[in-house]
Amino acid sequence: MARPKIALIGAGQIGGTLAHLAAMKELGDVILFDIAEGTPQGKALDIAESGPAEGFDAALKGTNDYADIAGADVCIVTAGVPRKPGMSRDDLLGINLKVMKSVGEGIAKHAPDAFVICITNPLDAMVWALQKFSGLPANKVCGMAGVLDSARFRHFLSLEFGVSMKDVSAFVLGGHGDTMVPLTRYSTVAGIPLPDLVKMGWTTQDNLDAIVQRTRDGGAEIVGLLKTGSAFYAPATSAIEMAEAYLKDQKRVLPCAAHVDGAYGLKGIYVGVPTVIGASGIEKVIDIKLDKDEQAMLDKSIDAVKGLVEACKGIDSSLA
Ligand code: LMR
Repeated sequence: MARPKIALIGAGQIGGTLAHLAAMKELGDVILFDIAEGTPQGKALDIAESGPAEGFDAALKGTNDYADIAGADVCIVTAGVPRKPGMSRDDLLGINLKVMKSVGEGIAKHAPDAFVICITNPLDAMVWALQKFSGLPANKVCGMAGVLDSARFRHFLSLEFGVSMKDVSAFVLGGHGDTMVPLTRYSTVAGIPLPDLVKMGWTTQDNLDAIVQRTRDGGAEIVGLLKTGSAFYAPATSAIEMAEAYLKDQKRVLPCAAHVDGAYGLKGIYVGVPTVIGASGIEKVIDIKLDKDEQAMLDKSIDAVKGLVEACKGIDSSLA
């Protein structure tokens, strides 16, 4: 059986990390694309040369030619510009929208059957634009955010409770911006919801509130530390988890920026929701019951995403 083909669009910090992870996990052969001459070729060769020491079988090729992504099973898009300290993800909208246009056209022409995972910010609006520019089925285009935001939430909770993150489950709903909604009621340690852990005295509401805020600020915290760009290890690992769920038809329940049409009372918008990912792409959007406060937070987050989508339409008339 032929190995799956994984096309990585963008060979920056996340693209290189994705290529390394995909090869080490033997998810398939990797095409690393970038418009910068030499960068994808150099990174692909460097990773290929780590193969004998690591012991993986995967072919890696760097390219500046979209034709090389032909027939890709998965495309992971990181192309575009990351933010720097003092910037919000939304500040990247104008510049990254232009990039999504050429990426969407490249995917439409050469890899129309791919499952597409977008990482470029501002995420939810860029996923929406990428689907429009590519014309791919809405359930085959999604954004990596919920997995990342939930992983951050789980990490902070595991530190707070002093337990393995394997026993912490958590998830974050809404847009991948400052208004994201970490859901404490649906997050657990050993199956015990966080509000119950407060009642049991294992932590305080103040500590929990601080963790929720730290999760919301998770991307900015890394940007502030790195100073030259944004996070790349955790974003890459999160996208690989989604790609693996698709390629192996794992039916994983993963939160991601998916096309929501009906659930949560929404009509045709991309926003972070829990989904089932399997061989057909986003196979299901899970419509969980929210209380009044959670719904209000989600509404605020959706309004922020809608505002960015409108801004995209204002910049590129083909999207209107
Ligand atoms: C993240 O959350 O790490 C990414 O969205 C990058 C960023 O700018 O925060």
